[in-house]
Amino acid sequence: MSAGHPPLRVAVLISGTGSNLKTLIDAVESGTLDLDLCLVISNREEAPGLDHARGASIPFEVINQDNCGPGQTEDEAVTAALRRAHPDLVLLSGYMRILGAQLVAAFSGRMINQHPSLLPRYKGLHTYRRVLEAGDDEHGASVHFVTAELDGGPVIAQARIGVDPGDTEQSLAARLGPVEHRLLVAVMELFTRRRVRLQHGDVHLDGNPLARPLELTGDALVV
Ligand code: GRF
Repeated sequence: MSAGHPPLRVAVLISGTGSNLKTLIDAVESGTLDLDLCLVISNREEAPGLDHARGASIPFEVINQDNCGPGQTEDEAVTAALRRAHPDLVLLSGYMRILGAQLVAAFSGRMINQHPSLLPRYKGLHTYRRVLEAGDDEHGASVHFVTAELDGGPVIAQARIGVDPGDTEQSLAARLGPVEHRLLVAVMELFTRRRVRLQHGDVHLDGNPLARPLELTGDALVV
């Protein structure tokens, strides 16, 4: 229990390696996070991240256009699976699909996304390449509430890294990965304590609107 709250039920949607999912599994196993990882959904059967779900005995479903029921869209199948799992929070973690407005609305205020950039900069794909092409001296990761606008919802928290001369997409990604994992754990910790909410389109922490996203410093989030 986190400060008297039951474990936060979290559904995680993935498409790829699932290193962030693995981070959450490890944090639960070590007692760092009080989560009940109630469901993993992947749109790709071969997503390596599904092995993490299998290894931790987390229920998982593969849902894509090829296997959803007759007359049912992929979004409808995902919505139905999520409803069955009753999550408090839905985490999009490298889920490489654009969700329709109905699915987003069904989980409004209860769905967050991880994005590898300092939003609102570099929405969409290839953030590392675009940061390097622009000659930026910093890059980072964000966690934000999901709205109908792609990567456009209110940002809860961010983590920054410097861009070094000679950096490549690969070196930047390798450096950002562990930072993004720490950011995710810190944000989830706030959710387990029910400290973060989306109210009237703004992120609220402990009942007060945030003027700007929280910043990860070390392992802690600061206002
Ligand atoms: C992360 O960088 C996340 O920000 C982005 O996709 C990546 C997922 O990585 N949306 P992984 O599958 O958790 O390793």
